[in-house]
Amino acid sequence: MVAPSAPAARAAGAPPALGRLAAVQEMAALLRRLFEVEREFVRTATTLIYRVGAPELKYLLCQHVWESAGHARWLRERGRELQGFGAGEAVRPEVRGVFEEAIRPADGAAALAGFYGVLKPALLAAYRHYLAVTEPLADWPSRKLVEEFVADEERHAREIAPFLAESADGAAAADRLSALLAAEGGWLGLAPRLPLPPGLVLLSAAGPYAHPPTCNRAPYPTCSSVFSHDPAETPIVRPWLVDPATDARVIRIMVYVWLMMEMDAVDYLATVFYDTPGAPFDLHHDLARHLWDESRHSQFGYRQLPRLGVDLGTVEHSLDLYHILVQMPPHERYAMMTMEFEAGSFPVKAHVMDRIRELNDFEADTLLAFDRNDEQNHVRFGHRWLPVMMALFGDTRPVDDFVRAAQENFKAAAALHGGRVPHALPPATRLTGEKILRLATGAAAVAARPPG
Ligand SMILES: [Fe+2]
Ligand SMILES: [Fe+2]
Repeated sequence: MVAPSAPAARAAGAPPALGRLAAVQEMAALLRRLFEVEREFVRTATTLIYRVGAPELKYLLCQHVWESAGHARWLRERGRELQGFGAGEAVRPEVRGVFEEAIRPADGAAALAGFYGVLKPALLAAYRHYLAVTEPLADWPSRKLVEEFVADEERHAREIAPFLAESADGAAAADRLSALLAAEGGWLGLAPRLPLPPGLVLLSAAGPYAHPPTCNRAPYPTCSSVFSHDPAETPIVRPWLVDPATDARVIRIMVYVWLMMEMDAVDYLATVFYDTPGAPFDLHHDLARHLWDESRHSQFGYRQLPRLGVDLGTVEHSLDLYHILVQMPPHERYAMMTMEFEAGSFPVKAHVMDRIRELNDFEADTLLAFDRNDEQNHVRFGHRWLPVMMALFGDTRPVDDFVRAAQENFKAAAALHGGRVPHALPPATRLTGEKILRLATGAAAVAARPPG
């Protein structure tokens, strides 16, 4: 069953596999390419996340990135069992080149069309090819994995379909990627390599990619921050969170706004993957998990707030953290996230959880318990990976010194880039602490009214 791929491989210029393990080496080489495609998808599809606005689309991309990280991990595990997979984890330049082109359209929707209209379908085709050519009993462990990945890719295509819109830019991006892939013989390098069309202009030839200075939250209104001390200005009133006199129902709505705005973490963490091309795969794997966790935390608020009577169209989205952090080096971004924001959030969140338990709201207790557990893992990730990330950038300072310097740099960057986004909504229409107070206590009065 391995034989059918061999003529194709030879036609593509690959040397015929020799020796007793030739059949194994041939399949391992294909697994290796699939691993590289999946891990490079993780590194680059993350750049879509802060460029698209719809929360559901951001959440879905985070989920797909996390699933791709899982595919890559299992491909690596299986590949390491097989002779010919190779010891390293590097992505070959031709694979990287296709993804470098894929991220280049300035419009997130056009880039999305390239990823999901060309690159992911080609990956699905490559997985199907693998199943068609491998020996199903001899290579049973790979087959079971690939069968699962085929089902995942088919589901990803269904899930993303409602978010794909036709556009001239998207079609042009897809054409460029199709041509690049065809020039490489497809993801597996087995198809005849076609010459690039004459006159093809690659966007990636124009210069390096840069993250945009702001993130997309359309169609939602925006502001600098959802936290303040003023109940007439922002939905989260810092002193109210810890004031024993605050009604627990008010704290519940505030914490759901807080959770929903972990969208900030989604958007700025998404920038770190691309900026760390030399990272070990396990670092990106754990970042992908971190990203998916933050997107689930944001979904907690996005799902629960309307159930508590909040119109999401009145909740302004905060942009400060993205604006500030994207101006800082990636390892400082990651240090601020894990060692400052996350490590520092536990005492207030513990108090909030205790107050919310007064409400006998099992769902809220559950969501907050999982959030807390996830956040403990994120701080562990930080302790594990920050030194590795520092090394990638040649920083040899003790971690504590580096974190303190990053905190100072954050303050300086905040002075320059923070507080620049005015409230998109006037106080009369945006969600504020005062409105939450009326909504939470008023809603309870209605609920307590006797029937009839
Ligand atoms: Fe979180
Ligand atoms: Fe977190």
